[in-house]
Amino acid sequence: MTPVEETFSREWASLASIGRHQGSGGYRRYAWTSVDLELRAWFADQAGQRGLACEQDRNGNQWAWWGDRGPGAIVTGSHLDSVPDGGAYDGPLGVLSGFLAIDELRQRGIQPARPVAVACFADEEGARFGVACVGSRLLTGALDPDTARGLRDSEGFTLAEAMRRAGTDPAAIGEDTDVLGRIGAFVELHVEQGRGLEAPVGIATGIWPHGRWRLRLTGEANHAGTTRLADRRDPMLPYAAAVLAARQAAQRAGALATFGKVTVVPGGTNAIASVVDGWLDARAADEATLSAMVEEIAAAARSSAAVHGVDVELTAESRTPAVSLDAALADRVAAAAGGLPALPTGAGHDAGILAARVPTAMLFVRNPTGVSHSPAESAEAADCVAGIHALSTVLAELACR
Ligand code: GLV
Ligand code: MN
Ligand code: MN
Repeated sequence: MTPVEETFSREWASLASIGRHQGSGGYRRYAWTSVDLELRAWFADQAGQRGLACEQDRNGNQWAWWGDRGPGAIVTGSHLDSVPDGGAYDGPLGVLSGFLAIDELRQRGIQPARPVAVACFADEEGARFGVACVGSRLLTGALDPDTARGLRDSEGFTLAEAMRRAGTDPAAIGEDTDVLGRIGAFVELHVEQGRGLEAPVGIATGIWPHGRWRLRLTGEANHAGTTRLADRRDPMLPYAAAVLAARQAAQRAGALATFGKVTVVPGGTNAIASVVDGWLDARAADEATLSAMVEEIAAAARSSAAVHGVDVELTAESRTPAVSLDAALADRVAAAAGGLPALPTGAGHDAGILAARVPTAMLFVRNPTGVSHSPAESAEAADCVAGIHALSTVLAELACR
């Protein structure tokens, strides 16, 4: 094994147990929990082992600096949080690869002319508070700080309370032009999350527009054994109509629509529900298709709700516009890495948020099965090492000129 391969395997193992759920084997790494604090300590330790200055910005993002803190820094990194029962690679691969790319540059005796940093963005998945990429959205001003502070988790804790309990001041969150001003370019390395990449490493062209909507259906709780069908106001029926419409509308539009989370109140087997909340994740190649698809799903829910005496409320919880990553930077990155296949993605990333403010590129590492957001997510060690090598080559190209 090369020194980088050895370090990859050792440090990957050092992260493996943090937030791993014994039952599912997947990760439950949610923002501002004790697991998140362990992950933050892991990041600080990686920085410390390399003599990199580590800090947390006002929005809870972590930074490890090789050299001055900007301006013009070449930044790489990703996130360490996960979806419920997520895989090991989505996020962490990009963070560890950043540290190992720095190791590789040092082993090659490269002294960059610009500062280099590894970043770890807070709460990328939005698994706890519902909005994705909270750290990078706050940093870039794409998320209003008051709205963020008021987001609630399933137990009723606000993001502000959760941050405070974790020792971070929620009063300080919001757009941070000082931190943004330090970044000359951002390159996020990420495991590819579909079956889009046949080579070990690729480069992203852009990210589909996507968003999350909460569909609240309010009916009337009643007895499952005594309430005549004609007397029911059952919100589960329009929910079922919405789920079917999502599949049909996505199929017609060549897009994607998913209800992956639902809560039912009161949740008794022998009770008609009073409220069903379903969360729709929708993604399409362009904004018009996305909006039309969501409207079609909402219309199906409304028309079924009208038949069943149910009230409907559709709330957009987050929406990310289409992202075209910086083409000139992508060309430079691909050339530095010796030519890379280019592909778009339907997955959201902090890179997609940062792209609005700084030149941004993304490297993908091959996913042999196409599975992600699942404990079965995987990547070959050789491909991960190829990704680290590509990243270090790219950092050398960007930071040495
Ligand atoms: C992030 O992983 C997303 O695309 O939801
Ligand atoms: Mn993800
Ligand atoms: Mn990710």
